[in-house]
Amino acid sequence: VKVTSVVGARPQFVKLAPITRAFDATEHEHNVIHTGQHYDGLMSDIFFSTFGLAEPMWNLGVGSGPHGEQTAKMLSGIEKILTSERPDWLLVYGDTNSTLAAALAGAKLHIPVAHLEAGLRSFNRSMPEEHNRVLTDHAADLLLAPTRTAASHLANEGLGARTVVVGDVMVDVLLQVATAVAGRALPDAIDVPDGRFVLATMHRAENTDDPARLAAALSGLAEISIPVILPVHPRLQAAATSADLDLSAGSLHPVEPLGYEQMVRAVLGSTAVITDSGGLQKEAFVLGKTVTTIRTETEWVETLDDGWNVLAPDLKDLDAIVLRPAPTTERGHPYGTGEAAIAAVNALVAHHRSTSSA
Ligand code: UD1
Repeated sequence: VKVTSVVGARPQFVKLAPITRAFDATEHEHNVIHTGQHYDGLMSDIFFSTFGLAEPMWNLGVGSGPHGEQTAKMLSGIEKILTSERPDWLLVYGDTNSTLAAALAGAKLHIPVAHLEAGLRSFNRSMPEEHNRVLTDHAADLLLAPTRTAASHLANEGLGARTVVVGDVMVDVLLQVATAVAGRALPDAIDVPDGRFVLATMHRAENTDDPARLAAALSGLAEISIPVILPVHPRLQAAATSADLDLSAGSLHPVEPLGYEQMVRAVLGSTAVITDSGGLQKEAFVLGKTVTTIRTETEWVETLDDGWNVLAPDLKDLDAIVLRPAPTTERGHPYGTGEAAIAAVNALVAHHRSTSSA
């Protein structure tokens, strides 16, 4: 089977790592298109080197821009490659503009599209990611769902027959890296007097793009009673600069974006996590850290069980919420136990055989 993966943004490089490893253990052909949505060394290259991933076969170098223009450039670049490559499967990841562009390119050329991390829903139609998810799922031929909840959303939309639950590939890579870095010191960038700190990230458009909302979120974080380490996403930096907001006020300690291993070491060493990232919510949950989510909802609803994750959209009483005691309950394994990438590759092979022999 010949599979072409399309990635472009930071969380997709993380998902690509276990998928590449799973393909490397088979005789199947797997190659990669990078759209260039993320292009900074710390947002892209560092992930390829950390995971030992080969340079993508193609890099479209699309870069930043308005959503329509960014998505259109990707669509046109991917279409050109697919026209000559004609893979058996086009594999798309998550919910970014790169995901939607690739799914459209495949659907237009009648190239079977598989969506990894299918079925996530926030039911918040003001998020660009929600449209990317829904449109991609409905364009795709095979829906690789990370959880039963995700599969039930797909069934509710009439997509149950195309769905396979494979688990969450981000947990595959997280468990491997957490084992490898266990016992290692904090990344050098995290310099805190008594070792206690909150790890914070914020990059969602809903938090960064409205200056009043961004100011309120930053002042809520700045008032937390222990140091707040803030790896700064380029979108946050750009928004703070244009709104003239200080990323080092009060308890805030801004640092550059962390590589994957550094991020895992930071979560493991943290007192608690506060974020609007989907990936980091799950990483904190799986590693047994309390997490507070600065959004009105989460797609990863399993993290809310027993209060491991708490939603704090109104930003009130953040100190008490973020530093609440950890639950004493067991967390279970709603995201699988580290074999999702192998299950995803097996599903691609099995469904290729079933479609080609049909
Ligand atoms: C994108 C995804 C989001 C995902 C996030 C992970 C969409 C709609 N959003 O958001 O779902 O959670 O990636 O990081 O696809 N920039 C740089 N250097 C880079 C990349 C971006 O400076 O390497 C700056 C640009 O100025 C750009 C801004 O960051 O304007 C936002 O980048 P963009 O790719 O549009 O979206 P993200 O906010 O990163």
